[in-house]
Amino acid sequence: MPAERITSTTLATMKRRGEAIACLTCYDAAFAGLLESAGLEVLLVGDSLGMVLQGQASTVAVKLEHMVYHTACVSRAARRALVIADMPFLSYASAERALTAAEQLMGAGGAAMVKLEGGAELAETVTRLTRFGVPVCGHLGLLPQSVHRLGGYRYQGRDDAGAARIRADALALQDAGASLLVLECVPAALAQALAAELELPVIGIGAGNGCDGQVLVLHDMLGLLPGRAPTFSKDFAAAYGDIAAALAGYVAEVKERSFPGAAQTRY
Ligand code: KIV
Repeated sequence: MPAERITSTTLATMKRRGEAIACLTCYDAAFAGLLESAGLEVLLVGDSLGMVLQGQASTVAVKLEHMVYHTACVSRAARRALVIADMPFLSYASAERALTAAEQLMGAGGAAMVKLEGGAELAETVTRLTRFGVPVCGHLGLLPQSVHRLGGYRYQGRDDAGAARIRADALALQDAGASLLVLECVPAALAQALAAELELPVIGIGAGNGCDGQVLVLHDMLGLLPGRAPTFSKDFAAAYGDIAAALAGYVAEVKERSFPGAAQTRY
């Protein structure tokens, strides 16, 4: 990891050079320090904290104040990594609400980028945010905040129509000014094709190893919540022995593109 602060420009350069981007979720200062020492470029303060920290059934109950609190905890400890904060459920239901939420997440929380779930319907909001200096990460495929509409946590984009919708949404987000995209639970071939077509870096989770980088939920990859981890995740603590070794092993496997392997991939 370079000594200087990682920005969206660094990530774009890494994509151009074919260097894989290593990202994990992070919710507190202690882990932010450990993740940075392991060489992660991106720390995502995910609203998955609703499930792994708060014990909620989904991310829907997570409030802006929770996200600001945990983002500030991470930002205080992060010296080089890019800190991205999730915009919680309905906090970007209008462009005005999104601007207010971004003000909190970047101002009080110290995030350098915000992430929101959805596609073309958010293009105007993404344009407004980026015009006012807010870097945006999109999130397509499985959208956890829409679990009640989707009827469960299922792979997306498995038929031609679904894949075409995700592609159109990705292009709309990129055109609107998004600088990063998370693709969750889509077939590996679709994710690889999108990463090749898009200029912005694509970070996969449950999307095969053809993306520009990978992200996992920290508590899943450390095996902290037995029985909860999705099939696309891997227990790196069990594989490597302790937390520091697990984080280093994850970074190494992402960089050499051996994670995710066949066992964690839906083709
Ligand atoms: O909230 C989160 O942890 C996320 C990841 C699953 C990408 O959005």
